[in-house]
Amino acid sequence: MPVPVRLARPADVPGVLALWNAARSPVAVTEDRAEDAERLIDLGALLVAEEDGRIAGALVAAWDGWRGNMYRLAVLPEARRRGIARALVDAGHEALRAKGARRVSALVADEEAEATALWAAVGYARDGQLARWVRNL
Ligand SMILES: CC(C)(COP(=O)(O)OP(=O)(O)OC[C@H]1O[C@@H](n2cnc3c(N)ncnc32)[C@H](O)[C@@H]1OP(=O)(O)O)[C@@H](O)C(=O)NCCC(=O)NCCS
Repeated sequence: MPVPVRLARPADVPGVLALWNAARSPVAVTEDRAEDAERLIDLGALLVAEEDGRIAGALVAAWDGWRGNMYRLAVLPEARRRGIARALVDAGHEALRAKGARRVSALVADEEAEATALWAAVGYARDGQLARWVRNL
């Protein structure tokens, strides 16, 4: 039975921060702050999977008016390989499609074998023509 996925609520913020602390991608550099999670919740861009009263997985599925963007996919180590990430991505696709998205980008670390395996398993392919250019503000 797949774990239910829903939009995050303000009360979920401590659980999401605990998840990101326990299971964030090793290449993530931006500090996780409660106000950032709260803003994502206001925008309807943060999905969570709740299991046994705790946040077991989360995904940012954001719509910028042109493209869907997925970031910060994480599942608690003890809850992995049970389809939680797949359920989060499926729910993200549904939400983004409803907002008008026709194409979705996912930020994936090349060196992270579990991350690349997951995104390949849910139908994504690495774009060899475009690279992510980035700077801090
Ligand atoms: C990557 C991550 C989100 C996967 O979560 P998960 O809930 O275990 O993934 P799922 O159970 O939904 O896996 C779906 C499919 O993805 C692939 N997959 C997922 N994890 C894998 C792994 N460690 N090794 C190989 N394939 C994997 C498999 O094809 C899997 O299907 P299967 O179990 O039937 O073989 C989780 O390992 C994680 O949080 N890692 C740390 C943070 C991170 O790297 N996030 C990704 C940022 S882009």
